Amino acid sequence: MTAPIIFSLPGNTAAGAQLASMAGAEIGLLSTHTFPDEESLVRVDTDPRDRDVAVVATLHHPNAVVMPLLFLADALHSLGARRVGLIAPYLAYMRQDTRFNPGEALTSRTFASILSDAVDWLVTVDPHLHRYASLADIYDIPTAAVHASKEIGAWIATHVERPLVIGPDEESRQWAESVAAAAKAPFTVVTKTRHGDVDVIESIPDLRAHTDRTPVLVDDIISTARTMIAAVNHLHEQRAQPPVCIGVHAVFATGAYAALENAGPASIVTTNTIPHPSNQIDMLPAIAAAARSHFDVGDRPARP
Ligand code: R5P
Repeated sequence: MTAPIIFSLPGNTAAGAQLASMAGAEIGLLSTHTFPDEESLVRVDTDPRDRDVAVVATLHHPNAVVMPLLFLADALHSLGARRVGLIAPYLAYMRQDTRFNPGEALTSRTFASILSDAVDWLVTVDPHLHRYASLADIYDIPTAAVHASKEIGAWIATHVERPLVIGPDEESRQWAESVAAAAKAPFTVVTKTRHGDVDVIESIPDLRAHTDRTPVLVDDIISTARTMIAAVNHLHEQRAQPPVCIGVHAVFATGAYAALENAGPASIVTTNTIPHPSNQIDMLPAIAAAARSHFDVGDRPARP
């Protein structure tokens, strides 16, 4: 069977090259251009005819990336690719999973519908599944959600002495619990009330029983970092040791990383689903394995 091809949108070429090597795929060449009026041009320079292909595009700045992604996926299909998959290590638009206020757009559903029309399969890492049980609730294509808990747990077990894993809000319970299990550490969860984008109030459990442990805050996304900062401040108030802050996805809105550093954690660590100086935990082998299982499709017919 001919090797699959992995194309990478700008900003993803290093990850794409590693994924291609790990998944036994060829690196696809493409060029992109942004016109003065901000329209996008994409040109495919490696012939995808009759090949299984994937596009690597992490989606932390989704609005700028999605148009080139849609153009590329459509070009690949029309140039004869058998199947076009999307490897999006970070999947955007998962947090608007209900209408929090009357009249709001349910962006998670709309976004899923757009991507489901554009590509044949999707691989991502720890999508923010809170009100949805799985990606299948909103995506109509085969999806694989790779979990980072094993890699994060292994990092904690190697780098942190006597860890206590803490989820900074109820929504992070699922990540904190599985990470704690992988690190063979106890865990607890903070209660959080969010009043706005940057207005977060937290109430942390009594940690007096754990004064000999290093707190490790674990969340899926660090965006404004307000959730992490509120938790770090509460730990300081309880005279706990400075915490290690771990995020799966280093979204970090403007100024957020510096603000979190200023709160005084012991360290800030993320996985490499979004390139960032805090990346210390490698998710590419697990992503490559998930992509490989989509490539191993034998003679499955091309999309009609
Ligand atoms: C939401 O519940 C998520 O799990 C994260 O806690 C949240 O997205 C973090 O956002 P921010 O960094 O803006 O506080």
